[in-house]
Amino acid sequence: MGQERKLSEAKQGGVEAYLSRRREQIEDRLSMWLGAGIGPAGLVEAMRYSLLGPGKRLRPLLVLMACEACGGPVEAALDAAAALEMVHAYSLVHDDLPAMDDDDLRRGRPTCHKQFGEATAILVGDALLTLAFQAISEAVHPPELAAWCCRELARAAGAAGMVGGQFEDLHWESRSDATLPILEAIHRKKTGALFRAALRIGGMIGLAVRGHGTPWDDRQEPSLLTALDRFAERLGLAFQISDDLLDVESTLEKTGKRVGKDARLGKLTYPGLIGIEESRRLLAKVCEEAERHLEPFGPQADLLRQLVFRIRDRDR
Ligand code: IPE
Ligand code: IPE
Ligand code: MG
Ligand code: MG
Ligand code: MG
Repeated sequence: MGQERKLSEAKQGGVEAYLSRRREQIEDRLSMWLGAGIGPAGLVEAMRYSLLGPGKRLRPLLVLMACEACGGPVEAALDAAAALEMVHAYSLVHDDLPAMDDDDLRRGRPTCHKQFGEATAILVGDALLTLAFQAISEAVHPPELAAWCCRELARAAGAAGMVGGQFEDLHWESRSDATLPILEAIHRKKTGALFRAALRIGGMIGLAVRGHGTPWDDRQEPSLLTALDRFAERLGLAFQISDDLLDVESTLEKTGKRVGKDARLGKLTYPGLIGIEESRRLLAKVCEEAERHLEPFGPQADLLRQLVFRIRDRDR
C-alpha cells in the first residue's frame, strides 16, 4: 500500500494521459484490421460495432504494459494487443447471447444480437476469434514468436481456458452445492486465462524485441515471464471478483451493462457465495498479492502497479 500512495497523486495526470494515448493506438490498430474489404459489409459492420464500442481496452493495455515492463517498444506489441481485444470482444458477444447470459445491453448500447440478430452475433464472434489469429500470424515477427503467441492465445481462449470457464459458469448456474475452490477455478479460466495470455504475450514480445535472443526457444522460461504469469493469475482473479461486485453494487450508467443480473440468473459469484464484505476483503488481498509479484521489475512496472489499484477501486 505504501507503494500505492507513493505512486498516486504525483503520477495521476501522467497515467491518465498514458492510458488515453495507448487506447487511441489500440483502437487505430483494431480499426485497421477491420477494413471494409475483409468480408461482407453487413458482417463487418456488426464486427466493428462490437469491437470498437466503448470498452476499457484492459487486455490490450496489459499486452503493451507487459511489453514495456520487459524493455520492449509498444509498437512491437500493437497487433498482438489488438488480437487480445478481438478475442475478448468475441467472448462478450457470445456471453450475451440468449443461450448464455441473455443480456440486452453491453458497453452502453444494445448487445450485438439485439442490434443485428442472433445468427449474425454468432458469426461476429467466430470472425473476431479467427481474425485474432490472422493478425498475430501476419504481423508478429519473427514467425517463431508469432507461433508462440498463437499457442498462448489458443490455450487461453479454448476449452482449457476461457471457453472451459464459460461452460462451467453455465453448468453451476442455480446450484447450491458450489464451494470457494470451484468458484476460484471458474474465474481463473473464464477471465484469468485471457489476462494471463495478455501479460505473457506482451512480456515475451518485449523480451524478444529487446534482444534476448530467442526466449521462446528456452526450455526454462525467462524469470520475468514467470513473474508476469504469477502477477496475471492474481490480477485476473481480482478483475472477476470486482466484476461480480459491480453487478451487485454499481449501476447501468457506470458499467454500460445490466446490473443485478447475476443473482437473477443464479450465477455462482463471490458476493453470492461469501457476501459483499468478504468479497471486498478478498479483492484487496488478491490485489496486494498481485502487486508483490511485480517486485522483480522495479519501476518499469509502475504502470502495472497503478492498474492493480484501479481494478480494486473501479466502479465501471
Ligand atoms: C467484461 O470485461 C467481462 C469480464 C470478463 C468480466 P470488461 O469489463 O473488461 O469489459 P469491457 O471490455 O470494458 O467492455
Ligand atoms: C464473462 O463473465 C466472462 C467472459 C468470458 C466474457 P460475465 O458474464 O460476468 O461478464 P459480464 O458481467 O456479462 O460482462
Ligand atoms: Mg457470463
Ligand atoms: Mg455476462
Ligand atoms: Mg459479470
